[in-house]
Amino acid sequence: MLGWHEERLSLWRPEGRESPLSVTFSDGKQGYRLTPERVRHERLIKALGKPREQTRTVLDATAGLGRDAALIAMAGFPVLLAERSPILHAMLADGLRRAPTELAAVMQLLPCAGADAHSMPPLHAVYLDPMFPSREKSAAVKKDLQWLQQLAAYPDHHEEVMLLEWALGLDPQRVVVKRPGKAEPLAKRRPHHQIAGKAIRFDVYE
Ligand SMILES: C[S@@+](CC[C@H](N)C(=O)[O-])C[C@H]1O[C@@H](n2cnc3c(N)ncnc32)[C@H](O)[C@@H]1O
Repeated sequence: MLGWHEERLSLWRPEGRESPLSVTFSDGKQGYRLTPERVRHERLIKALGKPREQTRTVLDATAGLGRDAALIAMAGFPVLLAERSPILHAMLADGLRRAPTELAAVMQLLPCAGADAHSMPPLHAVYLDPMFPSREKSAAVKKDLQWLQQLAAYPDHHEEVMLLEWALGLDPQRVVVKRPGKAEPLAKRRPHHQIAGKAIRFDVYE
């Protein structure tokens, strides 16, 4: 169910024992990663590359629980967040309301109509992390993924094509797509280059 738990908009199973899930930018598993010094070394940030001076904004078009968006913001990029699940959208809004000032100042959640309904400023990058059948190993992430799987459907090939075409059509300097290490590229379209890690990789389209 969705409700307020310790003043956070949260999801939990009434019969479950696990702690409720909420969006939080200031503590929890991600907190330790969120310093500018640490995020510089994240593969996601390396995949985003160096922006031109005037065009620093990154659109995270599949914001989910806002984890990657927070890394991007902490690395110094202004971030626009789009999320089409109304539940996750409301949880992101609540998380941002409680976010540390330095993050809240550079993160903007787009109204729920979906990113494609908005006119965009010039973008350095569009970041996409669409749903993909289970890939993460740690128990905590698994729990979060289970929630995401209930709230958001896997895109079919046609939706993948639409999403990637739309992102490229916004004409950013690059589009970065998070993929499980061994998966086909999104929409089966070959990226320009890849930044690979153990379980996941980032495909970069320029
Ligand atoms: C794997 S999750 C993203 C997790 C996110 N990167 C994070 O760090 O928390 C994918 C999310 O993309 C959203 N989504 C998928 N297609 C979308 C679209 N076309 N527009 C906006 N959100 C979309 C889903 O609702 C889901 O919340």
